[in-house]
Amino acid sequence: MVSLKILFTCVLAIPNITGNATSVRNGVTVAGGIGSGNATNQLHLPSGLVVDDDQTVIIADTWNHRIIQWKKDDTNGQVVAGGKGLGNRMDQLNYPSDVLIDKVTNSFLICDQNNRRVVRWSRLSSTTQGEILINNIFCYGLFMDDQRYLYVSDIGMHGVRRYQMGDTNGILVAGGNRAGSGLNQFKLPTYLFVDRQQNVYVSDRDNNRVMKWGKGATEGIIVAGDQEKGSALTQLSSPHGLFIDTLGAIHVVDSGNHRVIRWVQTDKKQGTVMVGGNGLGSRANQFYSPEDLSFDPHGNLYVTDRYNHRVQRFSFE
Ligand SMILES: *[C@@H]1O[C@H](CO)[C@@H](O)[C@H](O)[C@H]1NC(C)=O
Repeated sequence: MVSLKILFTCVLAIPNITGNATSVRNGVTVAGGIGSGNATNQLHLPSGLVVDDDQTVIIADTWNHRIIQWKKDDTNGQVVAGGKGLGNRMDQLNYPSDVLIDKVTNSFLICDQNNRRVVRWSRLSSTTQGEILINNIFCYGLFMDDQRYLYVSDIGMHGVRRYQMGDTNGILVAGGNRAGSGLNQFKLPTYLFVDRQQNVYVSDRDNNRVMKWGKGATEGIIVAGDQEKGSALTQLSSPHGLFIDTLGAIHVVDSGNHRVIRWVQTDKKQGTVMVGGNGLGSRANQFYSPEDLSFDPHGNLYVTDRYNHRVQRFSFE
């Protein structure tokens, strides 16, 4: 059990969301939320995030070119990678978009997007720089499965590559057929999730859909969204972060609709709003272009609320 994003698929039961409670479901700000800036109590257009077992939130603080972690109930974060300004030195990042935890090596894997590389930073407090794992890839999202394969979405090639640790070439496992709306194509693949059967789920941003590629498949199937940008429950608008639970329910950040929506396998025609969906704004039940999501072991949901420069936590008890 190595990556938190997959760990939770084994232990986590996402609670049922019923009735009209979504309109009053409020989030609590656990990081940032006091305007954009580079102080350690601020974020600036955050993107990917992951939550550790002890509810520490680790955030790709994209426009601050750093990864910052906030322990539970902290009022300030702690910079754990980058934060030395934009650049390509080994102690710098350049618009990092996503981060995950590799428990085996006790390190963070980071998509250092504008440096076109995936880097590893040890979690030891003595760490001052990273090391390059993969070069020359225009990465967006990262995922590590329970066999420790690393999956990287590539917005240059409009595909997803899979890497064995130590291998720098990887193999194409989805897309890679130029940008388009065919079933074997993506138009800007953002975040991804891989289940225990090695099905690869991808938020296909500019096609406004979530795709599922079976192991060895040459094309995917649409599992959420109808490809038209819109706000009906059958639609998505710029999907980003996603999480698939053990029952196969798809939880996806529907950024353009400022909501998180869930599709269950038994009803593939439309989703149910989990949180947000109350228009663009900064109230506790609103988002402004949310980006990624993560669950902790208690089933609490964390969302990077990008243009509000904050991370919101939602509890469903
Ligand atoms: C933080 O922001 C200040 C003010 O905008 C700027 O002068 C400084 O260089 C920034 N620090 C880093 C590490 O980027």
